Amino acid sequence: MEFLAIAFAGVLGNICSILSLSTTSTGWFNSLCSPGDISSVLGPHLSSGAHIYLPGSDQFTQATTRWSAYQAPNFTVIVKVATESDVGETVKYANKQNIPFIAVNGGHGAIRSLEDGKTATIGGGALSKQITDSLWTKGKQTVTGICECTSLLGPGLGGGHGILQGRYGLIADQFVSLNVVLANGSLITVGEESDLWWGLKGAGHNFGIITSATTKIYDVPDDGVWSYIRFIYTHDKVEDLYEAINTHLLKNGTQPVDFFSYSLFFNLPSLDPDHSLIAFFILQGGTASVESQYADPFKKMGPVMMKGDHGSFKDIAKWTDMATDSPPSLNNSFFLFEGYSVQGVQSIPSDSTAFPHREANLLVAPVVTYEPGDKKLESEAFQFGETLREIIFQGSDEKEMYSYVNYASGNEGPQSWYGYEPWRLEKLRVLKEKYDPDNRLSFYAPFV
Ligand SMILES: Cc1cc2nc3c(=O)[nH]c(=O)nc-3n(C[C@H](O)[C@H](O)[C@H](O)COP(=O)(O)OP(=O)(O)OC[C@H]3O[C@@H](n4cnc5c(N)ncnc54)[C@H](O)[C@@H]3O)c2cc1C
Ligand SMILES: *[C@@H]1O[C@H](CO)[C@@H](O)[C@H](O)[C@H]1NC(C)=O
Ligand SMILES: *[C@@H]1O[C@H](CO)[C@@H](O)[C@H](O)[C@H]1NC(C)=O
Ligand SMILES: *[C@@H]1O[C@H](CO)[C@@H](O)[C@H](O)[C@H]1NC(C)=O
Ligand SMILES: *[C@@H]1O[C@H](CO)[C@@H](O)[C@H](O)[C@H]1NC(C)=O
Repeated sequence: MEFLAIAFAGVLGNICSILSLSTTSTGWFNSLCSPGDISSVLGPHLSSGAHIYLPGSDQFTQATTRWSAYQAPNFTVIVKVATESDVGETVKYANKQNIPFIAVNGGHGAIRSLEDGKTATIGGGALSKQITDSLWTKGKQTVTGICECTSLLGPGLGGGHGILQGRYGLIADQFVSLNVVLANGSLITVGEESDLWWGLKGAGHNFGIITSATTKIYDVPDDGVWSYIRFIYTHDKVEDLYEAINTHLLKNGTQPVDFFSYSLFFNLPSLDPDHSLIAFFILQGGTASVESQYADPFKKMGPVMMKGDHGSFKDIAKWTDMATDSPPSLNNSFFLFEGYSVQGVQSIPSDSTAFPHREANLLVAPVVTYEPGDKKLESEAFQFGETLREIIFQGSDEKEMYSYVNYASGNEGPQSWYGYEPWRLEKLRVLKEKYDPDNRLSFYAPFV
């Protein structure tokens, strides 16, 4: 799995985890070892809303189910946390028992406050959909990932791409302050005056568990109108298509804001038994149909299918099959080329955050799916993904392989995730020495 595939590589044996929490009875904390012990020792220190779940319970299964089974950690106990203090207590307990832990998003934690119309405070476990929906009722929006299913902080701690990034920058660029439980269990509020601020925005998974985030929010422009067209092409159009995408849309990083274009190779034997097909999406904000200067070149190219609609920003997840209730339309492998607009991302100085890939105009990701449980198949799938990635890399003009940390498969290494400029990793390691000297937070794309 190249896409997403998580960085739990190198973790041996059982793991305990914190599924993180948020504001109101949300997230989870998972830890291992003697379960009876954890209930009697940790239990009294937790709030009344917290729960400890052991294997065999529905809640345990629910909390440990992952999008990718590849190199999934082995959880033995889940602590569902309800308050910031629960997170600190659980981390302290895990440290005392020398139990490894990780935060996993609980998928809860809605917006806590929206005081001045310019910022909102969001629980550490909140999902994209909850955030977008509740801001929408106030005529506001912020940058989230495209899938309703991911959290804000999971993506955001590694940068965080989203459709509104062309206007506003990455998810991490929206942070105004973060409440963080450090590796030693103490809770601090971190803002731009802290040295840790730089590291949290791009390498944040390595520094703490975020219990809440205050982020910038914006008025929804143009009544939030968006439109889209989806084309499907046969494989013989591949060169014309990508030429046109480069010439008419991406234009070396000048695709207009309020735009998102992406394509994917996929297989549909009923349409073409021998070759991949290409689905290509153009999404445009502020207009009830994609403007003809952008749409026409792609219509002329002879798609085998074409479909479009207009609605609001909130409909995008449904149009792109990224809604929580979307059917699993892509259960096969696919190859993704994401063309987010980049002005908002590139207007922020590259050295001002740990996110190292601001100059990139495209995200390219082979996504290889397979039935879990078969080690040989898993290794073949992994090799296949590596081969696909290598082909793309060889075909690019890049000297180094850059990997977006949230899409990484785990074997790329710290330079690829955090940047090849030596000062970047040096700076991260200085922060790590200060804030997590015992390397307790070490399972998500570690650099130590
Ligand atoms: C279908 C799909 C669509 C995606 N779309 C996008 C996209 O549009 N843009 C984008 O940038 N990425 C996207 N991604 C990648 C995404 O950024 C990562 O998968 C991310 O890790 C998801 O975070 P999560 O919190 O939802 O998941 P989780 O598995 O719960 O968390 C992932 C990691 O983040 C850490 N984490 C989560 N919450 C916290 C917290 N509060 N404090 C500290 N650590 C925390 C966890 O410890 C864990 O290690 C997508 C992935 C998938 C599967
Ligand atoms: C989880 O346990 C299985 C079976 O014991 C083992 O093969 C696997 O490597 C473990 N995974 C991790 C990430 O430790
Ligand atoms: C693309 O943009 C970059 C950064 O603005 C610039 O350095 C480069 O020369 C441009 N390339 C082309 C082919 O225009
Ligand atoms: C994926 O699709 C194939 C063929 O369309 C089907 O046989 C299979 O059951 C699907 N798998 C899942 C997990 O949905
Ligand atoms: C926890 O770590 C932070 C950062 O290193 C430090 O400032 C704080 O004093 C530590 N707290 C405890 C209780 O040791």
